[in-house]
Amino acid sequence: MSISAQNAWDPQQLPPQDGKSFLVTGANAGVGYFTCEQLARAGAHVIMSGRSPHKLQAAHEALEARVPGASVETLLMDVANPGSIRAAAASVRGGLFQRSRLDGVVFNAGVVHTPKTRQITRDGRELVFATNALGHFVLGAELIVPLAKASSPRWTPRMVWLGSVSTRMGRYAPDDVQLEKGYSAWKAYVQSKVAVQALGLEADARLRDAGVPVDSVIAHPGYSIGGRTPIVKGVNEPRLMKRLRDTLQTPFSQGKERGADSVIRALIDPEVRSGDYWGPRMLTRGGPTMQRPSSTSSDPEVRRKLWEACEELSGLTWPLDKAAKAAR
Ligand SMILES: NC(=O)c1ccc[n+]([C@@H]2O[C@H](COP(=O)([O-])OP(=O)(O)OC[C@H]3O[C@@H](n4cnc5c(N)ncnc54)[C@H](OP(=O)(O)O)[C@@H]3O)[C@@H](O)[C@H]2O)c1
Repeated sequence: MSISAQNAWDPQQLPPQDGKSFLVTGANAGVGYFTCEQLARAGAHVIMSGRSPHKLQAAHEALEARVPGASVETLLMDVANPGSIRAAAASVRGGLFQRSRLDGVVFNAGVVHTPKTRQITRDGRELVFATNALGHFVLGAELIVPLAKASSPRWTPRMVWLGSVSTRMGRYAPDDVQLEKGYSAWKAYVQSKVAVQALGLEADARLRDAGVPVDSVIAHPGYSIGGRTPIVKGVNEPRLMKRLRDTLQTPFSQGKERGADSVIRALIDPEVRSGDYWGPRMLTRGGPTMQRPSSTSSDPEVRRKLWEACEELSGLTWPLDKAAKAAR
């Protein structure tokens, strides 16, 4: 994309999204919530997904209060629990929602404040990897067919994966995705985000090879912090001390509502291409620009190993042939 086309995007004036329907994971807080709010404001139908009924209800109410007339539904889904993902995805496929089509999905949910010691999920997977990467791999497998069905000459459905600047700051051990040989909170986060980015790029390659008309795009929100984010009851209510502390980080941070800008552009800008990587202009803050992913996450060998590890751990392969047929 040319520089002038890149600069032509105004996050405050999104193209109308009437008639489109998007699903966002981890929608009750942070970047996920503000992504939903912006989509709803642009006229899209939004399925806000989260693991806690109470938090989801609070976010739903907040969004409806802030965006009068918004078209919003909620979907309970714990992305660290494959059973919960399958049940939620089945209800999307089964047409239990107001709109029968799904134009895009944002793989946003994530453990950001990672535990100090290695934790495992009910089915024995390392928690951070299971939530941030593996869960979205499973959700992608479950939703690729309905996404493909929504393709048309005017719109290629999209999935957006949430990467991170941190992927440039740490080494990655693709042979130990679950950190069985050595765990630290920081390593768990960085590795999970390298995995997310690698999966997003590998999905792009596999979708193209199989002729599936669905785009896979990666976006990161820079350094977006709660204390610089508007107060929204039930969604973002930081204490005064946090707001003061976060204000000290003003030169290199932004609010989560601005972090959502790169995600939104990756999801709806018609100029964005599958396999693109989008993030804030000044890396940690600013308007969305096209960037390059870290060399580790774009390494074909890392991507392949990660994809195969997710297939093995989940027992799932993406039904790409079925998706290609569904799109015809
Ligand atoms: N903020 C940044 O600077 C930054 C930078 C780089 C990347 N990112 C990525 O952007 C995404 C959003 O970050 P954020 O700052 O908005 O984080 P956040 O405010 O902590 O929100 C995280 C969201 O994920 C949800 N979540 C966590 N575990 C879940 C699970 N098992 N099932 C379903 N939902 C789950 C949380 O729900 P609960 O409220 O129920 O916990 C919450 O809605 C994450 O993927 C993060 O890695 C953020």
